[in-house]
Amino acid sequence: MPSLRGCYDARVSHDPITLFLERRRAAVAAGAGFDGTAAVLATADRDGRPAARWVLVKDVGPEGLLVFTNYESRKAQDIEANPRVALAMHWPEIDEQFRFEGRAERLSAGESDAYHAARPRGSQIAAWASPQSRPIESREALAVRVTEIEARFDGVEVPRPPFWGGYRVVPDRAERWINGADRLHDRFVYTRDGDGWTCERWAP
Ligand SMILES: Cc1cc2nc3c(=O)[nH]c(=O)nc-3n(C[C@H](O)[C@H](O)[C@H](O)COP(=O)(O)O)c2cc1C
Repeated sequence: MPSLRGCYDARVSHDPITLFLERRRAAVAAGAGFDGTAAVLATADRDGRPAARWVLVKDVGPEGLLVFTNYESRKAQDIEANPRVALAMHWPEIDEQFRFEGRAERLSAGESDAYHAARPRGSQIAAWASPQSRPIESREALAVRVTEIEARFDGVEVPRPPFWGGYRVVPDRAERWINGADRLHDRFVYTRDGDGWTCERWAP
């Protein structure tokens, strides 16, 4: 049985992913934008230089959180060199923050295909047209690429670009943070413990 150590959250759920989904539903019910999916993804390259940017957490399963991107982007290059990543979400609507740390692993081609197939056609075309995180000449040059891709796939389904797909962030640490009066916030920190999780209350 995992230790509770003053962690009343562990009575809500011993699994921070279940707890995360419950809190995200609360945030969405309170009006959170992007269906509560927006998160800051932090990566570091092989020299330890960090970078952070917003992404959308498009799916969540018992094993982890799924994000989709260009596999040649800066974030993907960071992940390929150093799979340790962190995700942070802030839901001002419920005054809570949720954080995860862990490893990012590429989804299978089939998993990325399934998500790509569910995207609007315009997004599928854009994934082909955008050499994400590399210089381009102009906005017009991008528009020309879009026109070329549209012509290439005219009348047929747009396949997933081989350089685009998902990562699963498999967490080994998670934290729920609840805003408190006078900066006396609540923090519940989950650490992977064998097949389960340990939860501790941490000082704000
Ligand atoms: C709210 C929001 C959501 C975003 N979602 C994604 C996303 O799911 N995937 C993605 O590749 N970029 C997304 N972006 C763009 C990224 O923040 C970033 O500009 C881009 O991925 C390039 O980052 P990189 O050069 O560090 O790889 C999003 C931006 C914002 C503001």
